[in-house]
Amino acid sequence: MEALLQQIAALKADIEKTAEEGADALEAYRLKYLSAKGLVKSIFGEMKSVPADKKKEFGQILNEFKQIAENKYAAWKEKLEENPGMGAASTVDLTLPGDAIPLGTRHPINHFLDHVISIYQRLGFSVAEGPEIEDDWHNFTALNLPEHHPARDMQDTFYIQRNPDWLLRTHTSNTQTRAMETQSLPIRIICPGRVYRNETVSARSHCFFHQIEGLYVDENVSFADLKQTLYFFVQEMYGKNIKIRFRPSFFPFTEPSAEMDVQCQICHGEGCAVCKRTGWLEILGCGMIHPKVLENCGIDSNKYTGFAFGMGIERPAMLKYGINDIRLFSENDVRFLRQFTSNT
Ligand code: PHE
Repeated sequence: MEALLQQIAALKADIEKTAEEGADALEAYRLKYLSAKGLVKSIFGEMKSVPADKKKEFGQILNEFKQIAENKYAAWKEKLEENPGMGAASTVDLTLPGDAIPLGTRHPINHFLDHVISIYQRLGFSVAEGPEIEDDWHNFTALNLPEHHPARDMQDTFYIQRNPDWLLRTHTSNTQTRAMETQSLPIRIICPGRVYRNETVSARSHCFFHQIEGLYVDENVSFADLKQTLYFFVQEMYGKNIKIRFRPSFFPFTEPSAEMDVQCQICHGEGCAVCKRTGWLEILGCGMIHPKVLENCGIDSNKYTGFAFGMGIERPAMLKYGINDIRLFSENDVRFLRQFTSNT
């Protein structure tokens, strides 16, 4: 009798401790306690060995035990119906291999920019960055493009409505203005970044794109230095045998100004559709910084000279990777982006 009572107490504690998990655990519980061969039934079977004078008392204990077992079952079942995922964590097979986490790739524009930057860094240029929302002074006026200057038409500009003095920079030259105003000489920087122009979006042009510009200001900087710097760059970029040519051009912030062409890498100078049958591709604008620009930035133009150059990133990147639509760069289509692994 005493042993039986102890057994019932232990089973009650067990029932209390049983964790309420998923449907399988519930069924196992039912089989263990409540089925035809379960513990409740078998303990009821012990009634016959209980002395007659204790049967009443013992019957109550047994009924209470049975009630506890059944209540637990009913409450558990109800919870499981409300929340069928109950206890699912415990059914996870920890020995299964994990899911692979998809790895991104570098965006082709960044990839190309990094390559360009690394070439100029070897020549002692350091990277400078400037704001994309710029004021009129740093984007235009300081660069010798006063208000109403016809050269401003070259770049249709997005102005910020809240303040007509603010605009989205049309070139990364704003970073050069800021560097010349604030840094001590000599300055040797490259300025990569995104620029904006109010152009109709098509396969060949976009209302935003990327540029990288270079600037070198010191005593005795000459056009020969500019040519040699750019020649080093294209040789590193396209190979030692690359041919280049300079054509006179006009930019209000440089004098003299030039555009640099590289021999077309598709037809090697023979003439093809990409180079419009000329054998040459224009890749950048450059020139000696206009003395007025130096003065606007507080630099003595009698003592110092400098050169600047600027190139777009999208066009040469399209050539390098054989991309025929500029819009692909900004559409974030992973089928396009994942084609550029880190070693392309
Ligand atoms: N800022 C010019 C452009 O956006 C490029 C340039 C930079 C030309 C520096 C000359 C010198 O087209």
